[in-house]
Amino acid sequence: MGDPAGPESSSAAPWTVRRILEWTTAHLATHASETPRLDAEILLAHARGCQRIELYTHFGEIVSEDQRAIMRDLVRRRAAAEPVAYLVGHREFFSLDFRMTPAVLVPRPDTETLIIELLELAKRHEAPRILDVCTGSGCIAVAIAVNLSGASLTAVDISGEALAVARENAQAHGVQDRVRFLKGDLFAPLEASERFDFIISNPPYVRDDEIANLPPDVRLHEPLLALRAGPEGLNVIRRLIAEAPGHLQPGGHLFVEISPQQAQDVERLCAATGAYEAVRIVRDLAGKDCALHAAIAG
Ligand SMILES: C[S@@+](CC[C@H](N)C(=O)[O-])C[C@H]1O[C@@H](n2cnc3c(N)ncnc32)[C@H](O)[C@@H]1O
Repeated sequence: MGDPAGPESSSAAPWTVRRILEWTTAHLATHASETPRLDAEILLAHARGCQRIELYTHFGEIVSEDQRAIMRDLVRRRAAAEPVAYLVGHREFFSLDFRMTPAVLVPRPDTETLIIELLELAKRHEAPRILDVCTGSGCIAVAIAVNLSGASLTAVDISGEALAVARENAQAHGVQDRVRFLKGDLFAPLEASERFDFIISNPPYVRDDEIANLPPDVRLHEPLLALRAGPEGLNVIRRLIAEAPGHLQPGGHLFVEISPQQAQDVERLCAATGAYEAVRIVRDLAGKDCALHAAIAG
């Protein structure tokens, strides 16, 4: 931040909470952020060690030099496209706070739709067994465990670093006794005979040729392992659809997040297995195709 009006400036007007928020919002609006005001608030609250709401109750307060130094560094990194969730080390998802590091994908609101769909069916079971494949930060498994007290979860990821974050998140929300974490490739770490009532996954599904066009936050900072999935973006989804029936109880359900362009492909892949009795594409609140829901015969 070389701007003379920046928080490092020694200009006469004092750097109050309000002034820093206004300056940072204007700066981030032209540097990498689509949500500059929100980012400015989250970063300043982090630098001050307070809740966002407290910024508003201390609007006129002068920010200390120590806090401004922390803020300058955060704003510089945000302007270079580092995701806010990595800068502050956490992110809210499904109304829960999740620890974040660059080893895990930052959870997206679309994924909440997938969880809501599963919870609607799973709450009819007393003690559902649920598998979250490609768990990353553990946000899906932990959100389900918190919302379904009778459920037992298994969460798989190929990345040991991601699993370490997922374990911390389970611990932070007090569900570590009901979430088992396994490292490995999709279903490989499971016993061949293991069956679940529900399998849920937000797998990598970005086409190889789309990677270069992703926003810089995603392309430069989020793990490629969480995103890239071959020429059609279906490398992982194809295997999930083919192998899930072998790990579902009769009447079991599979939920997989997809990109809207993959809806027809995943319906075709499900049909090709001959294993699913019902297949539907789930839409988000904006009416966009966002997930596959497939069920095997009861
Ligand atoms: C799109 S992220 C999803 C993370 C989290 N479930 C969420 O919704 O935010 C995909 C995750 O799949 C993991 N992954 C990629 N390939 C895998 C594989 N073959 N087997 C298991 N996990 C895999 C990545 O390490 C990454 O954590």
